[in-house]
Parts: sequence; C-alpha cells; structure tokens
Amino acid sequence: MIDISHQQKQFEVIPTLVRPTLVEALKSRVRTAAAVAATESDQLPQVQTLGVAEMLEARLNSFDPASDDAEAECAFYVADLGEVYRQHLRWKALLPRIEPFFAMKCNPDPMVLRLLASLGTGFDCASKNEIQSILDLGVDPTRIIYANPCKQNAFVKYAHTNNVRMMTFDNAEELHKIKRFHPNAQLVLRILTDDSKSLCKLGLKFGAPLDTVEGLLATARELDLDVIGVSFHVGSGCFDAQAFGEAVIRARRVFDQAIEYGYEFKFLDVGGGFPSAHVKEGITFEKVALILGQTVERLFGPEVRVIAEPGRYYVGSAFTLATQVIARRTIQSVTATAAASEDKDGNRGEDEEEVKHMYYINDGMYGSFNCIMFDHQICEPKVLFRDGEFSYDAHYMQDMQQEQGGLASVWGPTCDSIDCITSKTRLPLLESGDWMYFENMGAYTITAASQFNGFKRSEVLYTTTEKEVTYHF
Ligand SMILES: Cc1ncc(COP(=O)(O)O)c(C=O)c1O
Repeated sequence: MIDISHQQKQFEVIPTLVRPTLVEALKSRVRTAAAVAATESDQLPQVQTLGVAEMLEARLNSFDPASDDAEAECAFYVADLGEVYRQHLRWKALLPRIEPFFAMKCNPDPMVLRLLASLGTGFDCASKNEIQSILDLGVDPTRIIYANPCKQNAFVKYAHTNNVRMMTFDNAEELHKIKRFHPNAQLVLRILTDDSKSLCKLGLKFGAPLDTVEGLLATARELDLDVIGVSFHVGSGCFDAQAFGEAVIRARRVFDQAIEYGYEFKFLDVGGGFPSAHVKEGITFEKVALILGQTVERLFGPEVRVIAEPGRYYVGSAFTLATQVIARRTIQSVTATAAASEDKDGNRGEDEEEVKHMYYINDGMYGSFNCIMFDHQICEPKVLFRDGEFSYDAHYMQDMQQEQGGLASVWGPTCDSIDCITSKTRLPLLESGDWMYFENMGAYTITAASQFNGFKRSEVLYTTTEKEVTYHF
C-alpha cells in the first residue's frame, strides 16, 4: 500500500456513511443538490463506500414522487473513486519507471484531483485555471507540466510567478514568448508522431515535424533557453500499441540531435493516449505497457526521467451516468419512421427494420454526451429502472429487448436535432420516468458539457469500492 501519511494532513477526512442512512443522505442531497455539488466551497462532497449499483439504486429510491422539486430527477453520475485508485495501482505495477502526470482536461473532477494529488501523481495542465486548481490543492509546482505548446502570454507569466517551470513548445515563436515571460522555464520539445491509429488526431494541431527539430534547437540555444527533453502524444483513443514504441524511437533520435546543440536531455514525456480500463481486447493497457516499457528501457538510461500524461486511462471507467426518460414518441407515420431511422448523413437502408420508439432523456449531446462529437465515442444505453423495478446489469433484459421494444433511437433534451445519442439501438418498451444508464462516461464528458437550452450539467455522487481511498480525503 502507498504511504500517504505525509499527504493526509492536507485533506479533510470525510466520514463515510453506513448503508441505512444512505437514502436519507441522498434525499437531503437532492434537496440541496446545488449547494452540495458546489465544489469550490470548503465543504467536500461525501464519499460513500458502496458499489455503483447500490449507489444508483439508493439515489433512485431517494426520489420523492410527491416532491415538486424540478432538480430532483435530473441525470446524475456515480463516480467510483476506487476505480481511479485501482487504475493507479495498475499503472505503478506495469509501468513503474514512468511517472503519471494526470491530464486533468480529461475530467477535472475535484475529488479525482484530490485523490490523485494524495496518491502523488503529477498533473498535465493546459491553462492558467488548470494550474491554479492544482496549486490550490497544495501540490508542489514541480509536479505540474504546462503541456500546451501554444500558450497565452499572461498564462506564461502566471506560470513564471508560480514557479511552474516545465512546459512544452513546438514552434520558434513560442520560444521567443517564453524567453520574454519565463526565461528560466524547463522546456520540453513536443515532436510530431504518427497518430493515424488514434481516434483523436492531435498531430493536426501540435507537434514539431522531425525536419524542424534542428532549427528549433538552434533557436533555443541562441536564446539561451533550457530545453530539458522531448514529449509526444500518439493521439487520444489510440488503438495501436506499436504507436507508442515508434514514438519513443523518434524521441531517441531527437535526444541524439540535441547533443550537437549542447543539450544533454534528461527528460522524456510519453504523453497520453492510454486506453481506459473497460477495454478488454485490442489495445489493452497491458499491451501498451509492455511495448512502451521495453522500448524506453532499451533506449534510455536510468539518468533519464520519464513521465506520461494519461487522461482517459484514469477516469474513463470510473463514471457511470444515469439519465431519466423524460418523453417517448411512438412512431406512427412512415415519414416519421423514415426520419427517425436515418443515420447522421440521412442514409437509410430500404429493407432495414424501422425505429419504433424515440426516447428523450435528460442529458444529451450538449451535455455529457458531447463525447460522441468531440471524442468519437459510441454510447450504449442500458436499462436502469423500468416497470417500477431497478434493473442494473440485468442479463434477462437482453431477451426482453428483442421481444418487446424493438428498435429505438435515444435523444438528448435540447431542441436541436443534432442532439442524438444513438439513432438505432434495441431497448425494451420504456415509459417516461424510467431510467437508463451509460457506463464508461468518465473521459471527455462532463468537462466539455455546456448548459445549452438551460439544462444544467449532471451532478456527481461519489463512492469508492476500495476502502483505502477513504484515507485519502
Ligand atoms: C497534451 C495532452 N496530454 C495528454 C492528453 C490526454 O490524452 P488521453 O486522455 O488520451 O490520455 C491530451 C488529450 O488531449 C493532451 O492534449
């Protein structure tokens, strides 16, 4: 077990509730949702010690049908901090040499940040606000890398004032900016790598092509800047473990080139792109760790410090979203049927089965499901509550889905027709007031959610399925 005795003092100890009081606690939580969810306040939300299913059930049971509280039946997340903890242990076991700097852009949830700060990870920050929220947790500035190659002047000044020295760059103009506002920064050259095997191709925007590296090193030398090493990002949602190995080989080349310019690099940042825990086949963390770990070991001596910027890896599987069915439309006319079963490009196979029901739920594309658009995700609804019964992880649902419901589409709550979560799925017949849930909703969801049409971001309830986590708050 990790020694956290030195860190515990920084954080308030949160009492965990025992089961019989949970429904009461959640009831009062519903009434004061806004206040309790106020993460900036000194009061931290409570962390329960229940399974995800129990949390979901308790929350549904806590609703008072007689209440006219409009907030009461909003969509909500259950975050299992135990899952974040397990991912951390897995990282430590499989990539012991590589220090994780959590890419908080992926999910800046305050409890996740606190837990990871307490576990001793570093943080990859992309802006002044992100840096500030980590410093506010009492994290030392040396545990932050400002990993945005194109930074606002004022943000560079802020990093300088607050002793955040590590930052990335990939162009000459940025070097001049840094010389002006943060001349003693420790610079990390972000190079371009092959991101063609990734869902999100970050190379379209960032990364110095290898034929520009020498020019950049020459400029840095002229400006007398301290370049300490190399970073890369194989792209988020990478589906080829080899991409990590090939990127490390490229980085080695740049280490060698740097010597000519008087730089002896001692720092390698292997970026993000690591798969989250739910991935069971294809690219698994085990495969990535094997290739990455071996390549780093082969090409870099122990004098080189190696860090990574995992985002999705830590949080993807830790968040489950529950949404209520707020309306159902049964398709009557052929025209409506046709429209409802069209895919996003308006295509519709002639002999395909038609969508029978359109379900509208209380979180959507402009909220948590922005991951469909921005992160290329496919979100699969499962039934959580139907016919007055809780049905989390119910295998019998499979048959029922075939028999009773038929094809359905699922839509978010806004007035925009782009707000579609899935245009074709199989669900049993559901009514308004029933619930669906979506697993693996921790990465690039809540962080980019808007309040378009006046719909609030879904709040987060916390639990941990690992007891050790409670010592970290
Ligand atoms: C610079 C940087 N580092 C790390 C990450 C995290 O990537 P992932 O969530 O795929 O691990 C991102 C994601 O966009 C990024 O831009």
